[in-house]
Amino acid sequence: MIETLAGPSPKPSLRNNGTMHGSTSTPGLANPGLARLFQTEPWPLAPFDFHTPTRVIFGPGSLKSLGELARELGESRVLLVTDPGLEAAGHPQKASASLEEAGLKVFLFDEVEQNPTSRHVDNGVRFAKPHGIDLIVSVGGGSAMDCAKGINFVLTNGGTMTDYRGFGKATKPMLPSIGVPTTAGTGSEAQSYALIADEHTHMKMACGDRKAAFQVAILDPELTVSQPARVTALTGIDALSHALESYVTTARNPLSQMFAREGWKLLEVNLEKVLHDPSNLEARGAMQMGAFLAGTAIENSMLGVCHACANPLTAHYGITHGLAIGIMLPHVVRFNASAVSALYGDLAEEVGLRNGQPESAAETLAERITGLMRMAGLPRTLGEVGVSPGIVTLLAEEAAQQWTARFNPRAVDEADILGLFRAAL
Ligand SMILES: [Fe+2]
Repeated sequence: MIETLAGPSPKPSLRNNGTMHGSTSTPGLANPGLARLFQTEPWPLAPFDFHTPTRVIFGPGSLKSLGELARELGESRVLLVTDPGLEAAGHPQKASASLEEAGLKVFLFDEVEQNPTSRHVDNGVRFAKPHGIDLIVSVGGGSAMDCAKGINFVLTNGGTMTDYRGFGKATKPMLPSIGVPTTAGTGSEAQSYALIADEHTHMKMACGDRKAAFQVAILDPELTVSQPARVTALTGIDALSHALESYVTTARNPLSQMFAREGWKLLEVNLEKVLHDPSNLEARGAMQMGAFLAGTAIENSMLGVCHACANPLTAHYGITHGLAIGIMLPHVVRFNASAVSALYGDLAEEVGLRNGQPESAAETLAERITGLMRMAGLPRTLGEVGVSPGIVTLLAEEAAQQWTARFNPRAVDEADILGLFRAAL
């Protein structure tokens, strides 16, 4: 993801129906996604730069390979970044054991909290400095992975997190790193960005650099089974939103859309399964893969106004990211309908939410998100989570300044965002 590509987007060369592909398929290609990719007429000419920085190891029990993979990177002194809540499930201990069996020395930093701030990063750096760390391993959800990346920035390049806001600000080499997600949500394991909140304002800063991406991501579905039901639901909704938003952004390209679409297909069907049967390892694995695919799509095509709206809600009310997203997303999809109804139609079609007309696809998707929130027993309005009508003007002002709003497929201004918040009250 390069910031220069991310400006007011070159509008992709679209077909009349508003998609990057039409309804016909290429004979001989069984996978409709591939058929669309190899379709040659007309080919979207908007330039893009797509990359996947991370080696992926997938499979139940794959955490056991951590030590071997770390040794392959040629390092010996590991900073293991995690949050204390995971120790009850035993994941950090297993990671540590695998690293030690492979002959590496482990230094455990377990002071990560939800929505990590520059303070958590500074504490990690202070802890790591005397130990001569040459590899960083993160075991946890998005907070632990983002905090590990943040520590990597400051430990290797000095200064504070605010110095790395934006993209490509680290001038010196960074340490190699391995990400081991224990949730299926954030997609941070696929990205070169760390989202670290400002300690004082609690607004999230996106700090990116190619060197910050994990060299290796270990996707072990067994690690996600221990999540509390609410965490499964909230991280799952977040992952779903990543696929849905990244598929339609102004920075989308055929490759990012392939990742978003495949992620969407896995997440849409399997979220319901894990909500009903948390021990379903197959569905857990599909969720983890879907979250990774959607994360890869974000890395290459950004997000939209739903994520811009969620950040001030978390900053002011401490509303969990996935909850803020789940409440706002149906309204954002309805708002975007006039710009990308055919793309929404693609996604509805892919998962069998057939409703006839592209113009009603957005409504179908919006209702599906609301239905999943209901199924998970989650609130569906801002009023239910304590947001007062009096603050929405301020929330809209702050959301309009969030950079992800720039990539929304339908141009948004502060008044539009205010309308979204009011609709969600
Ligand atoms: Fe998100």
